[in-house]
Amino acid sequence: MGSLGLALSSMAAARPTPSLASFPSVPLSNNKYSASLHSSDSLETSRASFCLEISCHRRLPAELRWKMSAATRSGPVVAVAKPEPLKIIISGAPASGKGTQCELIKKKYGLVHIAAGDLLRAEIAAATENGKRAKEYMEKGMLVPDEIVVTMVKERLLQPDAQENGWLLDGYPRSLSQATALEDLGIRPDLFILLDVSEGILIERVVGRRLDPLTGKIYHLKYSPPENDEIAARLIQRFDDTEEKVKLRLKTHHQNVEAVLSIYKDVMLKVNGDAPIEDVFAEIDKALSSILEKKSKTDSSSMAAGMTH
Ligand code: AP5
Repeated sequence: MGSLGLALSSMAAARPTPSLASFPSVPLSNNKYSASLHSSDSLETSRASFCLEISCHRRLPAELRWKMSAATRSGPVVAVAKPEPLKIIISGAPASGKGTQCELIKKKYGLVHIAAGDLLRAEIAAATENGKRAKEYMEKGMLVPDEIVVTMVKERLLQPDAQENGWLLDGYPRSLSQATALEDLGIRPDLFILLDVSEGILIERVVGRRLDPLTGKIYHLKYSPPENDEIAARLIQRFDDTEEKVKLRLKTHHQNVEAVLSIYKDVMLKVNGDAPIEDVFAEIDKALSSILEKKSKTDSSSMAAGMTH
């Protein structure tokens, strides 16, 4: 089920506050779509604002989304549509900082973080058949076979929270076949972020990485140490975070990375991942803000065009 929120602002300058009942109902209901009008109790004296929630059982066609208009007795109505949510892929070698940046992106942009490695570790923790098979590959630093990973990621991506809030795909696709599987589903990101980190730094990051099992927060003994002794005491290390295993993971990464990059050349942002965490995020943040701005401009002009027809 999809949903679209429209904010309707009615300017009633210098007139008494209109009551909700004085607004005509907006004819937006048929067998596919239904609408409900909510108003806040605290209407200001010169301005009323309402929120129109439209629920639909199928995805609203773009044409209908922009052609919806409404009028009130007290003045013109401005309809503001939410821009399409962001769809982002983040990629890079093992320990290049993908998970760290995802935490910051998620916090600021509210995207749903989908990490292939985390989904696999959840299968391992649940001792499923897929988890048992996946662990054999992960211990050798190899890619887990597509028949496990592709469906797992696809199902997560298509869940309503990711569709409505946007998604941040971490560590997927990692091979040409995985990228092709996304393309075949018509799933394409707005931006493909590549964290570029020198090899010596990667090994140091892997070996010093620790995880807080309670909060999921990623630490590094040198670069992001735990805030206090209590947290330090409960930190754990991932089973594949040894120097020996990271070398195997790096080898797998090098064998596949070019083929994946070739699919996303036109939407790629290469970031210097050797830089401090905040600097890496600043660059990503700038790119994401600019995409969102473009999306809302495109959406507004489509809406204006739709309303004049
Ligand atoms: P996965 O869990 O995805 O591991 P990875 O790609 O090796 O990446 P990491 O999680 O190790 O690192 P990261 O880039 O998130 O870095 P982080 O932010 O933690 O995959 C594990 C395995 O699962 C794979 O080997 C494979 O077997 C399997 N798998 C996963 N996806 C698959 C797929 N699509 N297909 C098939 N198999 C798949 O940072 C690392 C450390 O550095 C931290 O301690 C952090 O604090 C520190 N740090 C981060 N940024 C900075 C910075 N800028 N400066 C200083 N320190 C930093």
